[in-house]
Amino acid sequence: APPAIIAPSILSANFANLGHDCSKKMEEGADWLHVDIMDGHFVPNMTIGCPVVSQIRGCVDRPSEPCGRGTFDCHMMIMEPHKWVVEFKNAGCDLYCFHYEAAVSSVAATDPTDKETTARTSPKQLIRYIHEQGMQAGIAIKPDTPVDVLWDIIESEDPVERPDMVLVMTVHPGFGGQKFMASELPKVAALRKRYPELNIEVDGGLGLGTIEQAADAGANVIVAGSAIFGAQDPSEVIEKLRAAVQK
Ligand code: DX5
Ligand code: ZN
Repeated sequence: APPAIIAPSILSANFANLGHDCSKKMEEGADWLHVDIMDGHFVPNMTIGCPVVSQIRGCVDRPSEPCGRGTFDCHMMIMEPHKWVVEFKNAGCDLYCFHYEAAVSSVAATDPTDKETTARTSPKQLIRYIHEQGMQAGIAIKPDTPVDVLWDIIESEDPVERPDMVLVMTVHPGFGGQKFMASELPKVAALRKRYPELNIEVDGGLGLGTIEQAADAGANVIVAGSAIFGAQDPSEVIEKLRAAVQK
């Protein structure tokens, strides 16, 4: 499996000290920062947009390689994810991870005569568009979405339409601090079995009590909000999460 990547979710940061909290997590051993973007429509909560992302980008060194240390992993819990690709690239996003469900609903909502938009809305087209803008592309699924919708996308004939990462949500997206749903792990195991080299991210309820199960299923990109930000010693938690994935 690919190397362990630990991505603290800054949703659990102190938003009045966001820049400081971001650079501190990197000093404490984080590989990526997981940036949760919520629009109040796709999920029943709102967080931050481009101006904040671009300001905190300046507090963390840019990755020197795709998916390298310092990657801004933007988890786009928004409707119409095709509309924000260029803005997030300009704000400093490195990995644009959209929800499969949102892309499918924009296909249904798009006027078929609007050729420019219809060329960007489907999951494969959106992955291509994200790549053309110079970012890595991720695709996320919510707990109610079966994993087999992803096979055709991951195995796209044209490599530019294949995702660099899949995110399997282990809570219903919208809030930090929720209970881990072990029911989602068979999706991770099925993905790992088919794709030994794929970056597979898990998000929601991850911490020292749940990491073993997630790692055994095959996840290598670990998001943790409350478990890292709430710890006495965040660097110890980061190292323990990493060790569980690498063992
Ligand atoms: C939930 C977000 C998560 C969240 C995880 O919708 O996508 O990234 O911050 O928080 P914890 O780790 O506390 O469950
Ligand atoms: Zn997230």
